[in-house]
Amino acid sequence: MTEGLLQRGVSLQRFNTFGLPARAAWFAAIDAPEQLATLMADPEWRLRRRFVLGGGSNLVLTGDFDGLVLQVRISGREPVGEEADAWLVRAGAGENWHDLVRWTLAQGWPGLENLSLIPGTVGAAPVQNIGAYGLEMAERFQQLEAIDLETGAAVTFDRDACRFGYRDSVFKKAAAGRFLITHVTFRLPKRWRPATGYADVAQELEARRIAQPTAQDISDAVIAIRTRKLPDPARIGNAGSFFKNPVVDVAAFAELAARFPELPYYPQPEGSVKLAAGWLIDRCGWKGRDLGPVGVYERQALVLVNRGGARGEDVLRLARAIQASVRSTFGVELEPEPVLL
Ligand code: EPU
Repeated sequence: MTEGLLQRGVSLQRFNTFGLPARAAWFAAIDAPEQLATLMADPEWRLRRRFVLGGGSNLVLTGDFDGLVLQVRISGREPVGEEADAWLVRAGAGENWHDLVRWTLAQGWPGLENLSLIPGTVGAAPVQNIGAYGLEMAERFQQLEAIDLETGAAVTFDRDACRFGYRDSVFKKAAAGRFLITHVTFRLPKRWRPATGYADVAQELEARRIAQPTAQDISDAVIAIRTRKLPDPARIGNAGSFFKNPVVDVAAFAELAARFPELPYYPQPEGSVKLAAGWLIDRCGWKGRDLGPVGVYERQALVLVNRGGARGEDVLRLARAIQASVRSTFGVELEPEPVLL
């Protein structure tokens, strides 16, 4: 029954944007939720170690994977309803994220424009609650559908059930590895207001002499900023920001701000303060430096790049060296942002 669906010993190199070499003992591409039922009916596959792969753009492969990789390729996007204040749009988890953003804008449904050009798939977006330029996906989220890989049951998660946080959700914590997201429904506001609070976006719009931007203007500005600052994974292997921006308490912040008056910071609602990991790494002198085949991107110190032929262990070695520098200079712990497998 599972013949044709399962492949053995598959290279994952072209399925991760960092371009790291690793093999999966077993691999299955999932085009429709029903295919999972076949797999999950077999106890052998139900018990095997699993990893759900989207676009592989937020992933660091540290070595071979001795289990089953499920590559999600479920497609489709459609309007599914309308409420007084929002349009509801549902997309298959395997759809490319940026294609969805472009399509919604072309339909006249604004709301996702600040998240333009983020690599990866629709199904991966809620896992790490993607965010950029003043907007997090959680703010546009209605619900998602998933298959429970332990029971085979179809389940729905609303926003509360996803427990979204900064680059975080239940799918990275308590429910890690348990669910395969098949579809996501977004809630796009009918009474739209541009989110231009982020300094880079405001500056870009000013440079373009746009005072009252449309959603498309914001998308264009974000694309220009991202193209300038972030490496295109199709050309230079990377996984986006390699560390989360660390959050410290007020006392620790006061001490650091006294020592480093130019420290960028973002006060948080709960009274803590978020720092810019890119600035901390830059300040430690890492920007543009290499350690073996992995480097710190010259235009954004938060991004580690594959200079050619890098392996997972090379990435981890540079990451640990950066963490040690930032710890000794600032007393701040940096936590990796991508999923390490
Ligand atoms: N900075 C430096 N040197 C650097 C990089 C940054 O001094 O090499 C300073 C900047 O000048 C700025 C501050 O650090 O004052 C923040 O930099 P930036 O606005 O470029 O954003 P970021 O905090 O480095 C975050 C997200 C990005 C997202 C941008 C824009 C995280 C971990 N990263 O980066 O998300 O695109 O904001 O919203 O939250 C990702 O998650 O993969 C990602 C790329």
